[in-house]
Amino acid sequence: MQVSASAPGKLVLFGDHAVVHGYPGIVTAVDRRYYVTASIGDNAMLQVRTSPDRQHELPFGALPGVQEPDIAFVVAAVNQLLSRKMLKRGLRLVTSGPCRSLGLGSSSAISVATLAAASQLFGLDLSPEEIYKMARAAVLDVQGAGSGLDVAAAVYGGTCYFERAGEVPEMLSVERLPLVIAYSGSKAGTVDLVQEVAALRSRHPDLVEPVFAMIGRICIRARSCLEEGRWCDLGALTNINQGLLEALGTGTAKLANLVYAARSAQAWGAKLSGAGGGDCMFAWADDSRRAQVIDRLEAAGGEVAVIACGVPGVQVVDEA
Ligand code: MEV
Repeated sequence: MQVSASAPGKLVLFGDHAVVHGYPGIVTAVDRRYYVTASIGDNAMLQVRTSPDRQHELPFGALPGVQEPDIAFVVAAVNQLLSRKMLKRGLRLVTSGPCRSLGLGSSSAISVATLAAASQLFGLDLSPEEIYKMARAAVLDVQGAGSGLDVAAAVYGGTCYFERAGEVPEMLSVERLPLVIAYSGSKAGTVDLVQEVAALRSRHPDLVEPVFAMIGRICIRARSCLEEGRWCDLGALTNINQGLLEALGTGTAKLANLVYAARSAQAWGAKLSGAGGGDCMFAWADDSRRAQVIDRLEAAGGEVAVIACGVPGVQVVDEA
């Protein structure tokens, strides 16, 4: 028997970085799904194929030390199962997904899909909350830091308001997000950026904590704007959030260029998404301005990505 699970990537709309320090965040699940197919493998062995020519074979006992980048999150997720004595047999996994991650949550999606596929294969019946908890622990094992926001998007999907790690996020009832998303062309190091922001906070707590608090208040207001479709107000909040991320030092010249390009084409607002230092930005634009926003972003060197948002969370497919 073989079982497949898929989980979506994410776009952080509001709360980036502040969410790591206990403030709320808003995230939407994006249609860049990662797949894990699981079947029974050799006894007490984990076999992982990440591409047709890349296969890893690891005894369960050796898993805790494994940090190879292409399997680190899979191994950390399997370790969660092992530490709970949930794996009685060997496990064979095949992973796949978009060939470029664009910084849209591949690590969380892979961790979540691994747990969901193994749960189905071995009849573990893990609830979404258990998968969330274990995937968050797996991501923390590999990265050492993180809010759990990305994991929440991968498990629950949709667009959600994330208040506190460990709690089920609130799903926002938003039909359609008028977003344009562009990749800045370079990958960011999430862990380094999270650590840099944390270090800035340690050096200047009296300055940085109020910035986080403002970002938290933006999330609260942005939530009602989203639910009521007040895009113009949402755009203004987006621009303030961008300014605060610049204050935290997570912007880059390229991201700023893209943000200004979108605003110059009359987008309601624009900001970077996630850790910063590269990866993606987004702009809010209605249908009448969408084409001009895309043109300006491309002229500024952005790679516009057509990606559906608010998509379903983790899904399992039983196969023969
Ligand atoms: C990264 O996608 C979002 C950050 O807030 C980190 C996190 O929440 O774990 C920068």
